[in-house]
Amino acid sequence: MNKLRILDELAIEIRTCPKCRLAETRTNAVPGEGSGTARIMFVGEGPGENEDKTGRPFVGAAGQFLNQLLRQAGIAREDVFITNIVKCRPPMNRVPLEDEVEACSDYLMAQIAVIEPKFVIPLGGAALKTLLGPQLKITQSRCKVFRKSGILYIPLFHPAAALHNSRLVETLQADIQTLKELLARDIRDDEITDLSPRVQ
Ligand code: URA
Ligand code: SF4
Repeated sequence: MNKLRILDELAIEIRTCPKCRLAETRTNAVPGEGSGTARIMFVGEGPGENEDKTGRPFVGAAGQFLNQLLRQAGIAREDVFITNIVKCRPPMNRVPLEDEVEACSDYLMAQIAVIEPKFVIPLGGAALKTLLGPQLKITQSRCKVFRKSGILYIPLFHPAAALHNSRLVETLQADIQTLKELLARDIRDDEITDLSPRVQ
């Protein structure tokens, strides 16, 4: 079946999803957008005010900075898929709670399964912990390459973090160049931290 059609059907389901308390306070759910055959997927934390208003991911200030970073990496936004670990805005932009992330995770897992990206880029600590494990820290994991279930994960700081900390602007700009370089070459096995469940 056509991947975009499956993603569209998922998006329809997400827009009326009642599965957690964030449904009560959202204006619009934000399923995500981009290419159904994306080689690279970016996963943020959750919609903010502008995303909630428009129903589109990363369209506010953090989104503008993400767009700039994508341009600097030579990545066209329409060639990637961009989404979040929760599809509805947490009130006051608080970090999503564990039960909300859990309730929403089937959608993210389904999106990853349909798109079959080669690379997933978790943006920030919340996406990192959800996708790769609660023990990981974004400061230590950024720009490292992890492998889980055949997909390579390269975490980056969240672009919104740089809006409050100007030193992170330069860090993210350097990290996006590292990402660009990693995406363009073969990554050796000894550069990869394997998180796949052990085969018994
Ligand atoms: N921050 C996020 O994590 N996701 C968005 O979509 C916008 C801001
Ligand atoms: Fe459903 Fe996810 Fe929105 Fe919760 S955050 S209501 S699980 S789409």
